[in-house]
Formats: sequence, structure tokens, C-alpha cells
Amino acid sequence: MERLIIISNRLPVSVTKKDGKLRFHPSAGGLATGVQPLLENTYKGLWVGWPGIPKEKISVIEKNEIISELKEKSYCPVFLSQSAVDNYYSGFSNRTIWPLFHYFTQYAVFEKSAWSAYRRVNKQFFNVVSEIVESGDTVWIHDYHLMLLPRMLREKFPDLTIGFFLHIPFPSFEVFRLLPWRSEILEGLLGADLIGFHIYDYARHFLSSLRNRLGYEHSFGQVLVGNRYVKVDAFPMGIDYERYAGARGNSLVQKEIRKTRKKIIHKKIILSVDRLDYTKGILHRLRSFDLFLEKHTEYKEKVTLILVAVPSRTRVEHYKQLKKDVDESVGRLNGKHGTLGWMPVVYLYGSLPFHALTALYILSDVALVTPVRDGMNLIAKEYIAAKTDGKGVLILSEMAGAAAELSESIIVNPNNIESVSESIYKALKMPEFEQKKRNKTMQDRLRRYNVEKWADDFIKNLAQIKEDEQILLSRKITPKIRKSIISDYIKSKKRLILLDYDGTLRDFEKNPQDAIPDRKILRLLIKLSDDPKNDVLIISGRDKYILETWFKSFNLGLIAEHGVWVKEKGGAWELIGPLVNYWKDEIRPILEKYMDRTPGSFIEEKDYSLVWHFRKSNPELASNRARELKEAILHFTSNLGISVLEGNKVIEIKNAEVNKGNAALKWISRGHYDFILAAGDDRTDEDIFTVLPGKACSFKVGMPPSKARYIVESVMEFRTFMNQLLEK
Ligand code: UDP
Ligand code: G6P
Repeated sequence: MERLIIISNRLPVSVTKKDGKLRFHPSAGGLATGVQPLLENTYKGLWVGWPGIPKEKISVIEKNEIISELKEKSYCPVFLSQSAVDNYYSGFSNRTIWPLFHYFTQYAVFEKSAWSAYRRVNKQFFNVVSEIVESGDTVWIHDYHLMLLPRMLREKFPDLTIGFFLHIPFPSFEVFRLLPWRSEILEGLLGADLIGFHIYDYARHFLSSLRNRLGYEHSFGQVLVGNRYVKVDAFPMGIDYERYAGARGNSLVQKEIRKTRKKIIHKKIILSVDRLDYTKGILHRLRSFDLFLEKHTEYKEKVTLILVAVPSRTRVEHYKQLKKDVDESVGRLNGKHGTLGWMPVVYLYGSLPFHALTALYILSDVALVTPVRDGMNLIAKEYIAAKTDGKGVLILSEMAGAAAELSESIIVNPNNIESVSESIYKALKMPEFEQKKRNKTMQDRLRRYNVEKWADDFIKNLAQIKEDEQILLSRKITPKIRKSIISDYIKSKKRLILLDYDGTLRDFEKNPQDAIPDRKILRLLIKLSDDPKNDVLIISGRDKYILETWFKSFNLGLIAEHGVWVKEKGGAWELIGPLVNYWKDEIRPILEKYMDRTPGSFIEEKDYSLVWHFRKSNPELASNRARELKEAILHFTSNLGISVLEGNKVIEIKNAEVNKGNAALKWISRGHYDFILAAGDDRTDEDIFTVLPGKACSFKVGMPPSKARYIVESVMEFRTFMNQLLEK
């Protein structure tokens, strides 16, 4: 990798202006704190982002001051106007996407003007990056503010390596679909080569939205978009472990510990730290602490909750309201339980520097991290890393992405106030040896998968996608390959052309209602079969009556029902061998059960097979049912002599010895063909590719893996190629 260009809305440094003077502060939030050490320690490159101050608030001189100050750190600022900040940042990003993706649907507003601003600012980032990017660079875009940028960059720089990482949850399709601009967002993201999420559930939701909204299927998280692969995967973000583990040895931290201990004497400390955000569950947490004090009066004057709330997005209404609510709650709680010498909640509204924050991590007996929804939550990880003496208990919400990795903490549902309050009690009572045991396991895990490993993993996967893409490209029909196939075709004396129908000659994705071959298909087949040198064979899963109706006046060989019936050109239908049918009575009721439970699916009965079709069903449901159905039938396969075949949105149960390859052998084994071409699109066609002689020319329509020699992207591309073959 030449250079890494990190792009995010917010730079790790934010600029403010006080008393006419510019000030540079570290930015709040996990993205900035987590990703920053990478550019400092690991990668060569630069970071493009917004410096956090609207451009109207600074003069030209100040702008230059910002540029030169940031340049030293390899940061490149994108200056935004006040109106862009209002509509793109406070607007679409934080009034629409943020609440929606965190399941606060009631807070999400859908305003066209905010969406337009979002598009415009993504374009502005695009313009800045376009000026900087060089060939060989890797671009890594972060977070929900810039979901249109991958596609913009892809269109201008088709070969660029582009990664995208979402730091917040990706919601279930039922929530995502509420967004009026959902397709544009998905298409924007698909410009990337690799799309990363913190946990598998978010990746799964994204893939399901892709499938439901844009019809993209995936294979192990890999999606074929045009002639590119896009990979979707989970990469749980880590922390700079050693920095937090080493904090105890830092003199500033020690000083801070002593200072705080002097103020809070002989008390257990419970710590709560977050940006002041409604997703963090701060009000729920205060209610739980209130209940804890009510129930466990023995802790009166013996415990202090330090509540750090970092100001965030203060121009957005719900954040303003939350500030009022938290202020009130803290006041009420202190009024209710406090005494002359004891304040149950010590409330700090502001951002703490590293040494003050880590001092609190080290000091506190319990960390209460109970967001109602959180993409990851690095605070939880940092707390565990800082506990090098092994003492301390983490209470963690199951709604935080971090819960997947920190299962040795006390996992709670933040909405269950009683249970959280009891967890506080349990945490305060937990024996030291148990605290140490739990923390050690979590520390080992966090040390191993630290932020460097996380980034490394992401970048390596990104590079791998590019390699896979090269392999895919090497199986595409280039002009040179086309020329060579055409030349072999022309030179040959006896040719065999084996063609699957659905998904190969006919595009059923585009027009599932209309199965009949259109005029263009018929013209192609006439041209092919009119040449006396050609034996043309349609090999289909369809039944023989349909094939007969469609193709009876053509000079074609036909194979029906995946090889049950074969028909030479001009001949009669023949059964491939003695087949049995008695198994149908056992299998049919199972299929009927699945049909009833899967709306839109139906059963087709052929002479020697049963087929369950689910093309018109909800794709998510149907693919789960298909998996179940295969399992359910599996134990019949050996004693009934049947096999289960998975085609494109169909499951076919048939005699075990029947397959398209065996049927095609009737022609292939004649051995007098000096040119063989075969094409297919699904699993059932792989049996044909398997029996072809080495020099045959085979095409898979769609996405690998496939045994076919060449990959074509679509039915249209294949038909165009066939027409070119015939033009010569
Ligand atoms: N943080 C900080 N000072 C504070 C509070 C928090 O530097 O006073 C940092 C903290 O170290 C962590 C980040 O802010 O790295 C918060 O990240 P997290 O993933 O927990 O939440 P986010 O704010 O990204 O939603
Ligand atoms: C979360 C988001 C980040 C964001 C941070 C702070 O961590 O995922 O993208 O930078 O919150 O929010 P802010 O709006 O201040 O950038």
C-alpha cells in the first residue's frame, strides 16, 4: 500500500474560537480516539475531515492558520459553511441517520432539504479527496456522515481501493426501509470494495437490506456488483491497549488519582462516562442508581456515582432536551438521597483529557456502561484495559456492540431498571478473585485484537478483495479471448452448444412473470441451429411439456427436468434410465408444509421430481426455509435414493442419479465434436461443466465460485457474446 487516506466527518482535532483566539482540542467520540493512533504509529498517509468550526466563524488568516496547524499532523481540513453544518451534520446525519440507525425511529426526521445538503457535502468531500488521491492509494472512509462518498469516488476512479467502516449499528431492514433515500444510501456504500461493521448482526442487517431493496444476493458476505466484488464483514474495533494498560505508570495520572481520592474519601466509586447522547441510556442509569440506593440503604454515604457527560451535538433539539433532563435527574437524586457531607452523584459536564479519564478508570470500583443502543462502545474496553491490578467490575449493556467481546462482564438489559440496580449491588459485592478472573480473560482478548490488529485486518481484507477482483477479471471475456473463441468456432467442423435456459438465455430476475422466450432468444436459437455444423441442446430444469411447447418447431436437442428426459433433434422423448417415483408420497407432505409456511412459494410436480419454488417469497424468509427444508429432507436421501438440488430460488428433489451432466454425456461422449460451448447460471449447471472435456469453452452467468472457464456478468452479456459469435 502506497498511502492510506482516512476520511471522516470529524478530524481527531476540533477547532473552536474563544475570546477571538483559535483553540485546538482533541475530538470527542470513539472514531477519533480509536482511529487516531493508527495514523500516528502505523500507517503513512493523511486524514481528511471537518475541523469542527463553521467557515463563517473564521477569517482567511485564521483559515490558513488552521490549515498549517493541521498539516503538521497530516490532517487535511474540509471547511463547511454554517448552513452545511446545520443541514448536513446537525440535520441529515444527526437528526435522521443517527436516531434511525440507533432504533430511535420516533426522533428521526425525513427532510428533503437535509438530504440535499447531505448529498452536497458528500460531493464537497469528494472534490477535496479527488484533488489529493494518487494511484496506488488506499482510501478508508469512516462512518454515517459519508455514505454516498464511496460511489462518487468509484465512478471517478474505477480502480481505486476503497474501504468503508460504519461505527454505528446498521439497523434491521424493517427500520432501515423507513428512510426515503434507502436505495441511494445502499448504492452509495456499494462503491466501496469492503464494507465493515463492528459486529456480525450489523453486517447481516446490511446484507438483508441489500437483498430486499436492491435484489443483491451474497455468498459468504461477498456481493457481485457489476464486475466488482464488494465484501461485507464484521471487524470489532479495538483500542490502543497498551496506552490504557500503561496509564497507571504515568505521573500525571497518579497525581490525578491522588487529587480525586482526597475529594472522595472512603467510598466505593461507580463510574459513568459518555457523550451526552440519548442512545447512551444515561437517564435509565440514573433511575437504576436511584433504585439501588432506595433498596440498599446500607450503601448510604458509602458509594459515589461519578457521572461524566461530554457535551455533544448541542444544536440538535433532542440533545438539548436530554441535557435538561439529566441536570434535573441528578438534582432530584442528590436531593432525595444526599446528606450534608455526601452527594451520591458527582456530575461533570465536560470532556476529560486522557490522564483524568484514565485516573477515573483506575480509581473506580465499578463502571456502569449501559447504553440503550451503541455501535461498539470503547469506554467499556478502555476501562478493562486500565485495570492492570485486575480489580474492578464492568456492568455492560447487551445493546452495546462491545458486549459480544466482553461477555465476562455483568451483562444487563438497560431497560430493566430493577435488574441493573441489582447488578450494581452484585458488582459491589463481587469477590476480588472473581473480578480478577473475569478481567484477565477480557484483557487477554482486548490485548490481542487491539486497534492496530483491527485496522490491519481490515486493510488486509481490502487488499484481498482487490486480488480476488483481478482473478475474476482474468475470467472475463476480454476482446482477445472473444477473438480467440470466435476463431476456434469458425475453424471447427462439428460443434456442440449446450445452453441452460432460465438465468442463462432468459433473464428471470428482470421479468419473473414472463417465462416465454422472447423474439431475440428465438432468433438466436434459429441462427445457431440453422448451421448444419451445430448440434444445439437446451438443458433445462423445466418439464418436457413446456420445452416441447416453446421449442418444438426448432432444430434443437432438448434435456428436461435436469436430465430426466432427453430428446435428440427431430426425435422423441426418452427417459434417461429406469427411474422410480414412490418416494414422492413421502416427500410431498414435507414440501406442502414449507409451502404453507412460506407465502408466495409453490410446488411444481414433474414426472420424476418435486420442486419447491420460492422466487416470489420474501427472500430472507425463503432462504432460511430453504436451508431448513434441505436439512429436513437430508435423512431421506440415502434410503430413498433421492438427492436435493439447490437451483436459483428453487429446491428440487429428484432421483439421485439424474443430473444435467449425466444427460449431456449422451452427446459429449460421441467424441466427434471439435468445438464445445456450454453455459449455465446455477448449481445444477455445474454438473455440465464437470463432464466437459478440457478444451471446452464454458460460461457461468453470474458470480463465482464455478467450474466454468469464463464468467459473464449477465444474461445480456452472454447473449451479446453469442450474437457476436454468429455474426462472423
Ligand atoms: N472520551 C474522552 N474524554 C471524555 C470522555 C470520553 O476522551 O471525557 C473518549 C473515550 O476515551 C473513548 C471515546 O471518547 O475513546 C468514546 O467512545 P465510545 O465508543 O465509548 O462512544 P462514542 O462517543 O463514540 O459514541
Ligand atoms: C460517534 C460517531 C462518530 C462521531 C462521534 C462524536 O462515535 O460514530 O462518527 O465522531 O460519535 O460525535 P460528533 O458528532 O461530535 O462527531
